[in-house]
Amino acid sequence: MIKVQADRLIPLVQQIFSRAGCHAPEDAQIARRLVESNLVGHDSHGVIRVAYYIDWLKKDMVRANQKVQTVFETDTLAVLDGQRGFGQSVGEQALDIAIAKAKKSALSVLVLRNTAHLGRIGDWPQMACEAGLCSLFFVNTSGFGLLVAPWGGIDRRLSANPVAAGVPVRNGTDIIYDISTSSIAEGKLKVAFNKGVDVPPGCIIDHDGNPTNDPKTFYGKPPGAILPFGGYKGYGLGIIAEMFAGALTGSGCSDPAAPHLINGLFALLIDPERIPNDIGFGHEVERFITFVKQSRKATPDSEVLMPGEIEARTKKQRLADGIELDDITWKSLCDCAQSLGVAVSI
Ligand SMILES: NC(=O)c1ccc[n+]([C@@H]2O[C@H](COP(=O)([O-])OP(=O)(O)OC[C@H]3O[C@@H](n4cnc5c(N)ncnc54)[C@H](O)[C@@H]3O)[C@@H](O)[C@H]2O)c1
Repeated sequence: MIKVQADRLIPLVQQIFSRAGCHAPEDAQIARRLVESNLVGHDSHGVIRVAYYIDWLKKDMVRANQKVQTVFETDTLAVLDGQRGFGQSVGEQALDIAIAKAKKSALSVLVLRNTAHLGRIGDWPQMACEAGLCSLFFVNTSGFGLLVAPWGGIDRRLSANPVAAGVPVRNGTDIIYDISTSSIAEGKLKVAFNKGVDVPPGCIIDHDGNPTNDPKTFYGKPPGAILPFGGYKGYGLGIIAEMFAGALTGSGCSDPAAPHLINGLFALLIDPERIPNDIGFGHEVERFITFVKQSRKATPDSEVLMPGEIEARTKKQRLADGIELDDITWKSLCDCAQSLGVAVSI
């Protein structure tokens, strides 16, 4: 285990992507967003991804320095093609376009297809919140890396299909809801696998559908599957993510024939200030948060948190104390740096 400060980790990751062919600002965008995932506590979407991204770049599964292409647009709709570019870069470009439209027309719909891994989806509602917008996101994956069994089945048929939403809060932490519709994100299985620890019960099954807590079984031959969260309810939400982010965007629903990992993204952005509202949106959000938090506690040391609060706290703590990386993740990062001639001095 090694502890690294974010301001030392970002330049290292940036240099790796720069050396691999990503020009500014893309190298910095990838580095900042991957390290941000570690900072907010989602190590599964942090620098553990660097070696995979570099491998995909070498295999032309992701392309450096892409600009989103507009397929079709109206004042309120942007249908964009990510050109198989890095999600951290084309995602930001796409959000910039959708935010500008929502600011102008009170709302916008973003339909983004053909984009490589978009990372931690919570980044995107956070970006919308920073522009004062409420947002809702559905994301799916092409099917390269099917993970999740359908409710009632045991074979991998869906991806982890994240659903995210953001609500700006005037005098507090923005509400950022960001979940995968699987009972555990695959990246978290990877982290557990690297650490050699079990995952919580009820998350994964082996190839024959038997429950297991061992991530090695999930990655075994033949492989297991992840269960949807919340039984048939989470399964249903995963299906809706496929419909909006896969079928509606033209990115395609999960299909084992897919040659690359592609994320499809559907987003709805709304400017709350443009909706006539007698009670006042910002005031009502704050009143409700206070009301919810005044609930009696389930146990003496439990706490009622809003979605997004735990990430904001973890970020504050990790900015101060540093980010802990397991030995396998750190070695993969160092190997990657070395293979590209980047010196590691942390
Ligand atoms: N790009 C992709 O294809 C892809 C696919 C799957 C997942 N992901 C990402 O993986 C990450 C992890 O997903 P996950 O499902 O493991 O997340 P998770 O189970 O950790 O849930 C995170 C959500 O739950 C909230 N939360 C956590 N503890 C809470 C508490 N005590 N009280 C109230 N709210 C609480 C968080 O604020 C956050 O909104 C996400 O960032 C997701 O976007 C990305």
